[in-house]
Amino acid sequence: MQRFQDRTVVVTGGGGGIGGATCRRFAAEGARVAVFDLNLDAAEKVAAAIRAEGGQARALRCDITDRASVDAAVAAAEKALGPIEVLVNNAGWDVFKPFLKTVPAEWERLIAITVNVVCPGPTDTALLAGVAEGARDPAKLLEACSAIPLGRLGQPDDLAGAIAFFGSDDASFVTGQVVSVSGGLTMHG
Ligand SMILES: NC(=O)c1ccc[n+]([C@@H]2O[C@H](COP(=O)([O-])OP(=O)(O)OC[C@H]3O[C@@H](n4cnc5c(N)ncnc54)[C@H](O)[C@@H]3O)[C@@H](O)[C@H]2O)c1
Repeated sequence: MQRFQDRTVVVTGGGGGIGGATCRRFAAEGARVAVFDLNLDAAEKVAAAIRAEGGQARALRCDITDRASVDAAVAAAEKALGPIEVLVNNAGWDVFKPFLKTVPAEWERLIAITVNVVCPGPTDTALLAGVAEGARDPAKLLEACSAIPLGRLGQPDDLAGAIAFFGSDDASFVTGQVVSVSGGLTMHG
């Protein structure tokens, strides 16, 4: 029996790097996956890849900052795939700059929309590539990643296992926890 057999899972930002890997992981473990993303083309690609592998997935355009858009996507997902049991609230955006140079509008955009459980370290996705491109010295920024104790950048699939764990019955007595999947970049305890 697969962990998510006959369960419906929503992954927001499912068209992106970490979200896409998470969708594929849940689908491989039997879930019906609703791929929510602002970028419908990206979501369609992820859903199509899952279906090509014999899984079940539906792409839906959804802006998680817009209540009406979320309600419409949830209704469409439940109609197509059945009642939603697991939500992976992965969609997000970030800006890399010194704390003192940030402005209120950036904080509003960053934290108005999320509750984080799995915290990725630097991970090789479009988001990180965009940050590197915009950096004054892109090579230096990527070189700074050599400080990661496990010696490499994260890959989207590194996150999918921790996310799937929190969505599964294996985590039924785990709540309110924050896990850093960052190759040891942030350590505590
Ligand atoms: N890549 C990293 O190094 C890194 C580090 C720390 C945290 N994160 C977080 O991990 C999550 C996934 O990031 P990623 O690296 O896969 O980025 P990504 O850019 O590859 O994917 C993000 C996806 O979210 C979608 N999205 C953005 N805003 C949305 C909205 N309002 N509604 C619906 N969809 C929306 C985008 O269209 C995109 O497909 C984000 O929350 C990001 O902040 C990433």
